Amino acid sequence: MIASDILKKILLIFIYTIAFAFKQGILQTSPQIMKTLTITRPDDWHVHVRNSAILKTVLPHTARQFARAIIMPNLKPPVTTVDQALTYRDEILAAVPMGVDFTPLMTLYLTAATTEADIKKAAESEYIHAFKLYPAGATTHSDLGVADIVAAYPLFAAMEKHQIPLLIHGEVTDADCDIFDRERMFIDRYLTNIIKHFPDLRVVLEHVTTAEAVQFVESTSTNVAATITPQHLLYNRNALFVGGIRPHHYCLPVLKREQHRLALVKAATSGNPKFFLGTDSAPHLTNLKESSCGCAGCFSAPIALELYAEAFEAANALDKLEGFASFYGADFYRLPRNTDTITLEKTSWDVAASYGDNGISITPLKANETICWQVQ
Ligand code: NCD
Ligand code: ZN
Repeated sequence: MIASDILKKILLIFIYTIAFAFKQGILQTSPQIMKTLTITRPDDWHVHVRNSAILKTVLPHTARQFARAIIMPNLKPPVTTVDQALTYRDEILAAVPMGVDFTPLMTLYLTAATTEADIKKAAESEYIHAFKLYPAGATTHSDLGVADIVAAYPLFAAMEKHQIPLLIHGEVTDADCDIFDRERMFIDRYLTNIIKHFPDLRVVLEHVTTAEAVQFVESTSTNVAATITPQHLLYNRNALFVGGIRPHHYCLPVLKREQHRLALVKAATSGNPKFFLGTDSAPHLTNLKESSCGCAGCFSAPIALELYAEAFEAANALDKLEGFASFYGADFYRLPRNTDTITLEKTSWDVAASYGDNGISITPLKANETICWQVQ
């Protein structure tokens, strides 16, 4: 009896001592179990990796996260033939870090000089996955793009026949069209007709930025899909002018109003397979962005998946990230889904101020800012 009373007292003293130690901070609870998210390895269905020294700086970032990527052909000069694309593909493969598994999916730049024979040849190549239509003057290196879209109809017919997708930068270029209306106008003036004339043509409306584009894509057949960038999910146009002009938030199509951002978030997190990941990571040298006439394009490759995770988490839809990032694009391009996985960890870290060496400096999106997810 007496022995058990003594034992009880010892136990109480022990509990009080432990409680006191916690209160004083002498003892601490074990750190919270790390929140992680593992998904099938994603692909990037729209990326600019440039060439030469910039390619070597940026490509490893894309290859680290994504198994495959649709490589945009807007080099100077543009990639217009299968042979040029194969040379460019070799240059890209040479920039993949040792031990990293990455497959570039090549595209050709549509010009007034493209022929139906070029389209047949491209469709027959296992390395070419699409043609890219840049309306002439719409964006970076688009001066050789298509000036007369209706004149390109025979080429669209050939793509439809040979079953090769058409990727579209959907903005009109008329100088008198308000820059915030260019995408909506393109849909009304051109895209609606293209879809009507070529119902079996597979079309990706690239980097959609408006509620109208979302609504249009939703209302069309399964042959029409869209990519969505991280910046258009995270920012509205106010981000261009926070405390001064913000060149690293400038890309084309330009950021839009909050109502459009919300429509994009809803589309991306809806589980609708018509919407999939395309970063549009578009590196430019820092001095060419921070200039009196700064280039359009956000360099997001080093933190791309992290940014999508942030946007999906904010919408309470992390469970929808895998379909958007890793399944729907592959399905649309009729390629097998990846089988390996990637893990993201919920942890704060600071994005670098810039990337590159030997005279190359490229400022990423969110430079010097803290972000909350990290690819392991
Ligand atoms: C891209 C680029 O720099 O190549 N820029 C951009 O703002 N997105 C071109 C493009 O995709 O429009
Ligand atoms: Zn692009």
